[in-house]
Amino acid sequence: MTGARTPVLPRDVNDPAVLDRRHMFHPGTHLADFSGGDLPSQIIAGGKGIHVTDRDGHRMIDGFAGLWCVNVGYGRTEIADAVHAQMEKLSYFHAYNGHSNEPAIELAARIAGMVGLDMNHVFYGLSGSDANETNAKIVWYYHRILGRPEKRKLIARDRSYHGSGVMSGSLTGQPGFHGLYGLPLPDVIHVAAPHYWLDGREGESERAYSRRLAQELEATIQAEGPETVAAFFAEPVVGSGGILPSPEGYWEEVQAVLRRHDVLLVVDEVVTGFGRTGEAFGSHLYGIQPDLMALAKGLSSGYLPLSASVVSDRVWDVLEEGTRRHGPFIHGWTYSAHPVCAAAALANLDIIEREGLVANARDTGAYLQRCLREALGDHPMVGEVRGVGLLAAVDFVEAREPRRFFDPARRIGARVTEVARQNGLIVRSMPKIDGIGLAPPLTLSRQDVDQIVDIVLEATHAVAAQIAPVPPSPGPAKPRDREG
Ligand SMILES: Cc1ncc(COP(=O)(O)O)c(C=O)c1O
Repeated sequence: MTGARTPVLPRDVNDPAVLDRRHMFHPGTHLADFSGGDLPSQIIAGGKGIHVTDRDGHRMIDGFAGLWCVNVGYGRTEIADAVHAQMEKLSYFHAYNGHSNEPAIELAARIAGMVGLDMNHVFYGLSGSDANETNAKIVWYYHRILGRPEKRKLIARDRSYHGSGVMSGSLTGQPGFHGLYGLPLPDVIHVAAPHYWLDGREGESERAYSRRLAQELEATIQAEGPETVAAFFAEPVVGSGGILPSPEGYWEEVQAVLRRHDVLLVVDEVVTGFGRTGEAFGSHLYGIQPDLMALAKGLSSGYLPLSASVVSDRVWDVLEEGTRRHGPFIHGWTYSAHPVCAAAALANLDIIEREGLVANARDTGAYLQRCLREALGDHPMVGEVRGVGLLAAVDFVEAREPRRFFDPARRIGARVTEVARQNGLIVRSMPKIDGIGLAPPLTLSRQDVDQIVDIVLEATHAVAAQIAPVPPSPGPAKPRDREG
């Protein structure tokens, strides 16, 4: 027998920090820097409530709820119990050809009840990306059944994020998701996202700005040929593209254009769904009537992966008609309607309802918005503080009047993020702005807000002091537990 030889391995081989650099292929990560050790290791070991703790015991407020998904906070025993019970009862069964399971059925009815808006059918997936892949296919199917197969083009917006798949990544309006992959796919068109602070003209009201964007959308549809334009994909609040609440009148104007040309409206509520904006859905906040909706993240608060495409009755009727003519709707995933994920989501929605987390996001969110503006609004390094509910962004500028941005190589947002982290707060250095984003769990209290704002202010002062010849004096410090 040749005998298996135990390879000679370095002594630290079982250290997770070493294995991480050797074997994990991380999304959105500079691979060479990470393998080479230039990027710090950030292993999160535990979470409870709004806090997470890293492997070295550093406890931080998670001001971004993971990736804006842990709406109910960490360590909820009732979700763990529901998952355990469901795994013992029925760990898996598929949903093809009419098969079903009770948690997924109950959840579909519950989602339809929460969404309202004549949207009564739910198709399950596991990620926001796959929900948008599904939505794109439903759009194409819909127009084909109505006898207009040439209506295929999908319009999305610059800065938008709709996922990382081949189609969802194409819809995403950020060049990093395209160039090296040869995307976007043909038939995907991008128009401007609303960013009034950045793109509004001198003397132009918010309302007039919204009208101008709607006119640009109209012009794009006309130029492409309305008979070729199938759908418009948009987030109610642009998320990773900079946390941009919609300007006044935007949805009224845009929906009028879409209706005029029979272009379906696909609303991506992956971030805004389940309370984040202070309303249950961004569509409720802005008076949007979607034809299709994408949900994920807050649906299960990230306890298990789960997404949903929610279908309006108007679209559903056409899908049913399609199957009368062509047989089964041929699309699906092995894990569509996974019973354990559905059980986690039901327990999550119980918490959201029982603890009034949508109302808390509205009230505590309004407090967060006010405190951030009061603390940072006049800071010489701050260009804009914006947000809605428990979604907020701070944009940094080198000069306010006239506005001048920092050289991106100075990484101001990333530096503020680093200082905040050392001081016990995770914020997100947003990819499309030189700034930071906040999207904490919806369980946040006013005391938590005070602590968050304090740390953000101190981090902003610290970075300003590093770069300015005369550092601005720090504002009055409130008492703070540095352990977060
Ligand atoms: C608005 C929006 N849509 C879709 C997605 C994609 O979701 P996932 O990462 O679950 O595929 C995200 C993820 O952040 C998102 O923010």
